[in-house]
Parts: sequence; structure tokens; C-alpha cells
Amino acid sequence: MGLKRLDKVIALNCNVSRKEARNLIKNGAAAVNGQRTLRAEELIDTESDEITVDGYDFTLKEHIYIMLNKPQGVISATEDPNKETVIDIIPEDLKRRSLFPCGRLDRDTTGLLIITDDGALCHRIMSPAHHVYKTYETILSFAIDENDIAKLEAGITLGDGTECLPAIVEAIDINGLPGARIKIREGKYHQVKRMFASLGNNVEHLRRISIGALKLDESLKEGECRELADEELDLIFRDE
Ligand code: URA
Repeated sequence: MGLKRLDKVIALNCNVSRKEARNLIKNGAAAVNGQRTLRAEELIDTESDEITVDGYDFTLKEHIYIMLNKPQGVISATEDPNKETVIDIIPEDLKRRSLFPCGRLDRDTTGLLIITDDGALCHRIMSPAHHVYKTYETILSFAIDENDIAKLEAGITLGDGTECLPAIVEAIDINGLPGARIKIREGKYHQVKRMFASLGNNVEHLRRISIGALKLDESLKEGECRELADEELDLIFRDE
């Protein structure tokens, strides 16, 4: 895992802000390998150093998992010279050097995106073989009918011949506008938009509302994020 500043390690593992972590250290609450330290900048080897913080049940977490309500206008990338990325909008106290978005949402798509530093978990979420359904709500140009739903649920072929796995689809009304709730377990380029385009329809707005049984926390405004609890992580691999 490499070396990390003590205040950062404490913030991440005790669920406090960087400022609160620095105060804890300043007040003599922290020890590294049994030695009290007042140095927030002390470098910690998270694989071998033992940290204790008075009053905190301190278990060194290997990875971090963040739920972001992605806003429009930011790209699902780790860095970009010109455009704002989903990593740029993660607050400092949750940031780690190796964070990346687990999968991609288009720049104009909003909703649930997991940001993590755990490549293995991301692979499990993204691989169609693991059957993790992602649910989207979309506003469409036209209402879909039973025929459209049957085609999407049978596994539609896109305009370029790409075959999609069967989806689970429901026609819905979004504030009086025609829409659909669609569940897919793969993530081809612009997949949902292209699926509806192949029916002669058009996605006006797209929002991801869940991954497995993990639902977007509706108390998060667009652009806000929070760390996921362990039991929420398990929901990802459960059916809704
Ligand atoms: N499908 C799309 O077309 N766009 C997204 O952002 C996600 C799924």
C-alpha cells in the first residue's frame, strides 16, 4: 500500500475529517507502533505500522469505497488536462492517490457511480459474468410500448451489429415525461442510449439509480458523495 501521512490514515480509518485527525494527533491521541506522536505528517507504512487512536476502534482499511451522485458535465476518468473529472470533485478527506471510477457514466449521465481504489471489486462489478445489474432511469423522446420492451428483453442488436444481453425493462412516467427503467448487466459504450436509438427513440436524460441492490442515496445532491458502509458493499452483489 505504500507510505501515507498519519493524518490521512486516521481520517480514512476513523471516519473523521483531515482537520479532526490533525487535532486528535495534536492532542496526543495517536500512537505509531506504541509511541505517541504529535506529527500529523509522519509517514506510515500501512502494511506494517501499528496505529492506535484513543477512543477509536481502529482497523486499518485496505480500500476505500465512495458513492458519488455524479452530476452532469464531469467525465468518468481519473485525470484530464481540460475537463473536470469525477476524481476532481471528491473532497480532500476522502481522496487517495489511486482512486478511480468503477466503470463509466457518460458526461451527461447523472447518478450512482462508485469511486474506489479496489481493482478486484471493480472487476466483479463490471464483468457481465458476475451478473451485477445496473439500473437506469431514462427520459425518452417517445413512450415505449410492449413491442419495444419485448425486443430489449430478448437482447437487442444495435445498429452496428453489436448484440446486447437481455435487459429488464419497464415503461415509466418521469414527472409527466415518457421514460423507462432499464436494468442491464454489461457496460458497452453508450449502451442504453444506443439500445433506445436502435428502436428509433432518443434518450433525453439518463440517471443510474442502482448497482445490484445498492441504491443511490437520494439524500446526496448531484456532485455529493460519501463513503460506503461494509454492509452496503455487500448489497452490490445481491439482487434487488
Ligand atoms: N449507457 C449509456 O448510454 N450511457 C451511460 O452513461 C451509461 C449507460
